[in-house]
Amino acid sequence: MSIEVVPLDAGLGAEVCGLDISKPLDRPTVAAVRTAWLEHCVLLFRQQSLNDDQLLSFTSQFGALEFPPTKLLGLKNKINQKDEVPPEINVISNVTENGVAIGQLGADECAWHTDSAFVEIPPAASLLYALEIPSHGGNTSFLNMYKAWETLDPEVQKAVEDRAVKHDFTYTSAGHRRKDYPEVSDPSKAPGPTHPIVRTHPETKRKCLYLGRRLNSYIMGLSLNESEELLDKIWLNAVRPEFMYEHVWAVGDLVMWDNRCAMHRREAFDNTQRRVMHRSQLQGDRPYQ
Ligand code: OGA
Ligand code: MN
Repeated sequence: MSIEVVPLDAGLGAEVCGLDISKPLDRPTVAAVRTAWLEHCVLLFRQQSLNDDQLLSFTSQFGALEFPPTKLLGLKNKINQKDEVPPEINVISNVTENGVAIGQLGADECAWHTDSAFVEIPPAASLLYALEIPSHGGNTSFLNMYKAWETLDPEVQKAVEDRAVKHDFTYTSAGHRRKDYPEVSDPSKAPGPTHPIVRTHPETKRKCLYLGRRLNSYIMGLSLNESEELLDKIWLNAVRPEFMYEHVWAVGDLVMWDNRCAMHRREAFDNTQRRVMHRSQLQGDRPYQ
């Protein structure tokens, strides 16, 4: 098999053309996809046709499967994920059946975030596959966190490079509180692990910012005011259009992102329309500086 990797005209990402990912890939192809993924942080495969088993088989060619965040946090699923959907699949959907959601995250905006940064060993990758999409809205954007680090004012770099950030697990990436946890009023007291704010990517060995999300973020060892001020500076530099790629979904798209060096956000969409995505995850490593 030969693949064509076409970099996107954006701050990160590439499209992989000429590959049917529903079938097992040979070893050189797996290696070529991995190389492209490490280089571009986000890979797009269009016009695929995958069932859950094929999505998981494709994913597991790149490492060990990881579970969705509900499971990582040890929470009971409040949604009604259908029995036939394997537990490694995270259904991302606004659809409800008999008043119960079939998936996570609804139709609201999801602010910039990294998946499951609020666990000790966050997933290395998420792979999101589009089964049903609304006529408009619900675009997903990605952000290059290598560039966010490299372009940061050297003074600010110095101020944060040895610091750690607290990653609150109280709220979902759609900003909704998980009912098992009390509301957080002081981010410095939020529950959750800490990770170095600058991490060395375990495969590329390049440094990137690892922010998790802005909501309830807190830089350990600073006063809340100092932390807020520094985080605002870092975020302002990070969320630059030239570091981004905005994906407009079509049914059959699979987007595979490197969760260690890319953040993502999703714009809201019309909740009267259906959006159904199935997501798989790869296990990661404990972040280190
Ligand atoms: C996710 C997520 C984005 C989307 O699956 O991790 O943030 O487009 N969803 O629904
Ligand atoms: Mn996400």
